Amino acid sequence: MTSGTLHILGLGPGDPELVTLKAARILGAAPVFAHFAKRGRTGHARGIAAPHLNPAAEELRFDYPFTMDLPVTDPRYFPEMGAFYDRCAETLSACLAAGQDVALLCEGDPFLYGSAMYPFDRLRHRHPVQVVPGITAMSGCWSVAEAPMVHGDDTLLVLPATMDSDSLRTRLQQADAAVVMKLGRHLPRLRGILDELGLTARALYVERGTMEGGHAVPLAGRDDSPAPYFSLLLIPGRQDPRC
Ligand SMILES: C[S@@+](CC[C@H](N)C(=O)[O-])C[C@H]1O[C@@H](n2cnc3c(N)ncnc32)[C@H](O)[C@@H]1O
Repeated sequence: MTSGTLHILGLGPGDPELVTLKAARILGAAPVFAHFAKRGRTGHARGIAAPHLNPAAEELRFDYPFTMDLPVTDPRYFPEMGAFYDRCAETLSACLAAGQDVALLCEGDPFLYGSAMYPFDRLRHRHPVQVVPGITAMSGCWSVAEAPMVHGDDTLLVLPATMDSDSLRTRLQQADAAVVMKLGRHLPRLRGILDELGLTARALYVERGTMEGGHAVPLAGRDDSPAPYFSLLLIPGRQDPRC
């Protein structure tokens, strides 16, 4: 039996019109689609994919064993997540070995903080794999915010707010432009660091970028309540482009 292909599809930041033609074509033909989701939720990638799915396709849903409820520092975190990704990879592998193509759905781009990287690592030498890039959350967000980010030889730093404060401070003080993802409960701590570095006035907060009800505001005008999952900060680079 010839193996099916695992198509790892980036579906963009939320606006269904930001799905690529290639991802839409593969979704429309795939006999099986798979996606990760938080227990009890639809799954963001599943929602974006909905209008493009083959109506006869079989759905494989991988519920995370935990999300915010177990911190990364807990000794059980990595072994349990590793075992979860092993099980996902074996489920995908069984379909592929039976000759079925599978579309694995991912928000944004699969290789930027995407869960699909873990099955990819486990299956890339066992089955044919095709990765279809997607528009990242950050590019969706800086378009919504109308914020040009990097000019000329500016550098762009991308980092998660989950890092410890010293690492965040050290890296941010060297950056021309930055994107901070995974804000959650870290927003007040991050604001403190940006205040210290004199960066708050430049920072923009973007929530649900490109999705319905999404918006961008100056960080200075945003309160310190925890940020929802779909939010990030933009710190645009050079304010005085030379031409
Ligand atoms: C696990 S990462 C996935 C990133 C995704 N693979 C990408 O290419 O952008 C999830 C984080 O992306 C950011 N994010 C994803 N979609 C977003 C959106 N539409 N608006 C704002 N932030 C978003 C949030 O910071 C969220 O915590």
